[in-house]
Amino acid sequence: MKILIAYYSRTGNNKFIAKKLSASLNADLYEIIPRLNVFFFLILSSLLKISFGNKKTKHRIETYDKIILCGPIWMGQLISPLFDFIKKNKNTIKALYFATCCGGGESEKDSPFGYNGVFKKVKMLLNDSFIAGEAFSIDAIIPDELKGKTDEIMKLKLSEETFNNSTLLKKYDNFIQIVKKES
Ligand SMILES: Cc1cc2nc3c(=O)[nH]c(=O)nc-3n(C[C@H](O)[C@H](O)[C@H](O)COP(=O)(O)O)c2cc1C
Repeated sequence: MKILIAYYSRTGNNKFIAKKLSASLNADLYEIIPRLNVFFFLILSSLLKISFGNKKTKHRIETYDKIILCGPIWMGQLISPLFDFIKKNKNTIKALYFATCCGGGESEKDSPFGYNGVFKKVKMLLNDSFIAGEAFSIDAIIPDELKGKTDEIMKLKLSEETFNNSTLLKKYDNFIQIVKKES
């Protein structure tokens, strides 16, 4: 089975997840690079749902059985690099799984900034080719002394140590099983 992990990451958390998934599933790794890779424009284009496109890739999407799309959530949006990837490859994607390392956890998943809204958008774009979504929220690695301190929390980074000592590990193993099983 041929699997591609296509990811966008600005500060490294989703890169961490993408690389981990690639190793666990023996999958190819593709970093999505926006044509206009400027944070301000990426936020704006995500909010306005317009886009400047991504740089071309050598990976031929149509040759993969499964794609795992991985990237952050900003302002509750399916961010433009990920939206572009879906829009461009919509007709050739056979099965897509969505993984995100976002900020909001389980208790916020249905809020306007939560991950469930983003999963719904992906489902709307892909219908039956969207198989499953999973969120690996940094909420799960917040040490007690930082609870409630939003600015500090936003700076937290996933690492092997924080990941393996949190509830994310179980979620991750479960997600791997889903990707291996479903079609
Ligand atoms: C401008 C901005 C807006 C964000 N908005 C959200 C949000 O609406 N919901 C959420 O769960 N996380 C939100 N986050 C948190 C990011 O999703 C989180 O920090 C993520 O791990 C960053 O991924 P990266 O390191 O791969 O770039 C936001 C972060 C930034 C910088």
